[in-house]
Amino acid sequence: MISDEDKERVRQSTDMAALVGETVVLRQRGSEFWGCCPFHNEKSASFHFNPATGFWKCFGCGKSGDVFAYVMEREHLDFPDAIRYLADRAGIELQESSSVQRGPKRGRLNECLSAAEERFSTMLMRGKGPGPESARRYLASRGFGGDVCRRWKLGYAPGRGDVVRTLSDKGFTRAEMLGCDIAVDRSGRLQDRFYERVMFPIHDEQGRCIGFGGRVMGDAKPKYLNTAETSIFHKSKHMFAFDRAKEHIAATGTAVVVEGYTDVIALHEAGFKNVVATLGTALSLDHVKTLSRFAKTIIFMFDGDAAGQKAADNAIQYLDKTEALLSCVVLPDDLDPADFVSERGPEALKAQLDGARPLMDFVFESRLGRADLGSHGRRVAMLDEMCALLSPLKTSVLLDEYATRLADALGVDVSEVKRRIKSAAPARQAREQDVPPEDDYVPIPDEMPLSSEEAQQVSVERELLALMTAHPESTRAFADRFAPIEWADARDQAIAWAILALPDGTGAADAVRAAEGVVPDAGRLIASGQGMESSSDEPEKAMEFLLDNVEYHSVRRKIRTIRARLNAQVTSEEATALFREATELQKRANQLGDSIASMVEVTKNG
Ligand code: UTP
Ligand code: MN
Repeated sequence: MISDEDKERVRQSTDMAALVGETVVLRQRGSEFWGCCPFHNEKSASFHFNPATGFWKCFGCGKSGDVFAYVMEREHLDFPDAIRYLADRAGIELQESSSVQRGPKRGRLNECLSAAEERFSTMLMRGKGPGPESARRYLASRGFGGDVCRRWKLGYAPGRGDVVRTLSDKGFTRAEMLGCDIAVDRSGRLQDRFYERVMFPIHDEQGRCIGFGGRVMGDAKPKYLNTAETSIFHKSKHMFAFDRAKEHIAATGTAVVVEGYTDVIALHEAGFKNVVATLGTALSLDHVKTLSRFAKTIIFMFDGDAAGQKAADNAIQYLDKTEALLSCVVLPDDLDPADFVSERGPEALKAQLDGARPLMDFVFESRLGRADLGSHGRRVAMLDEMCALLSPLKTSVLLDEYATRLADALGVDVSEVKRRIKSAAPARQAREQDVPPEDDYVPIPDEMPLSSEEAQQVSVERELLALMTAHPESTRAFADRFAPIEWADARDQAIAWAILALPDGTGAADAVRAAEGVVPDAGRLIASGQGMESSSDEPEKAMEFLLDNVEYHSVRRKIRTIRARLNAQVTSEEATALFREATELQKRANQLGDSIASMVEVTKNG
């Protein structure tokens, strides 16, 4: 709920002339502003408003309202989202979100990232030495010359504390740099997050910098390192270049979703300006909803057959949750959109887009078209596979249509197909409706399927969260122990901090609600940690034990990362520093290991 007080604060802080001025040219007459109506086509100005009251009216189409109604109309938002939109634009923290928020102000995080963006850009455009030079050469080799770099604010991150120093000089604090994930804490020292990478800044709908994708110039892994989830950066909500593409999506009624940052840039530069990309994650319902505000058609454009099929499978679940038509294109010869447009030209790309097929046609054809359905066994296997894919639509009005199609294709009875779809388990693991997919279809090292070590860490993290939720009052004493932990799942981290920030006397149910304020899925994640041994009657002891465990896993992962870096090419100076860091971490791991072992002993004997 947004309070009336907040609503009025937002109204007061909105400069109506500036807001309307973003879309139409305005002329002032006396105390009023006049312009052509943004909501219908006209040549003479019949739209006017009074900046003092914020009320507007168009004599042409008859529409009128206050500033919120204006935003609802222009941005295709409902009322609460219109308030949130303007609050966000004015940098106002609404009570609904700030109640569980802790740490630096969001506006400062944006400023911190903008300053970093500026620094990276300067390094790329004017930096001297082998680093910046190779970055310029690399980008030029991909067709991104100086103009493109300037337009997209591309940059180069040298690492080695360069950006941390720059930001400190500008007055940004440690908490702010950590809060926007431009720096990381390595054993108490603040270090640059991005090292010798070409930087792609990512912006929110208002064009403010919220994070980066950093690409290596060679073949090192990970290819892209992305800003982690922060209070202003949400991969399941934001999209690359949405701020630029929005008006073109509205104008054409079509949004094109590609996979890569470089694809977006190449396509925009080739004149396709309604293109966005997800941020290295699978498409979420939030993405679809955001695009549907402006798009009547959403076209997914994927690199190759395999990726396209996986992405299309994932998108099926959104078919009945949007009014927009979902369709897709798989480019031939395994070309990605950037390569395709540079090798074959914009006309050929346009033809591909014009030939986009409805998502479900694609799914049917790519599965049934090439399958050998000669034997009864094969047909049954295909039936099961398709029913699993269609299971997200089991309660949808679309079910009849697709079931009929499938029945026809396989020569099976429609009612049998429907029965199977309704009883099928979803193709991937069961997941609640509306929860963004957790697994990604692109190989992203920081979000890859978990290794068994990581999976172990996640499971102790969840136990810890369950315990913290059950005993919020006992967590405070351990606050210091949370800082050094590198969480295996960023959501667990966000939940932990939300619980730590709770006032004394908060009950378990409120703790879960607070956590859900920062991670919508928190309830489920916390519940997955319940029922372990940690339901002890000595919560402090249990907490210490679990914290030791989580930190132990986290330290070991840090050590592994360092080992990997030592195996890559580093200067001897860097190697020495890395070695020293690894030794310190190993000491800590030994301490934790001892502590865990002694507690296990006690429990066994007691
Ligand atoms: P691609 O591997 O297709 O990269 O991943 P790309 O954008 O085409 O980059 P180039 O052309 O090789 O330079 C597509 C997207 O997946 C995410 C990024 O968002 C990337 O743009 N990704 C990929 C990651 O987040 N991490 C990775 O390690 C790789
Ligand atoms: Mn690609």
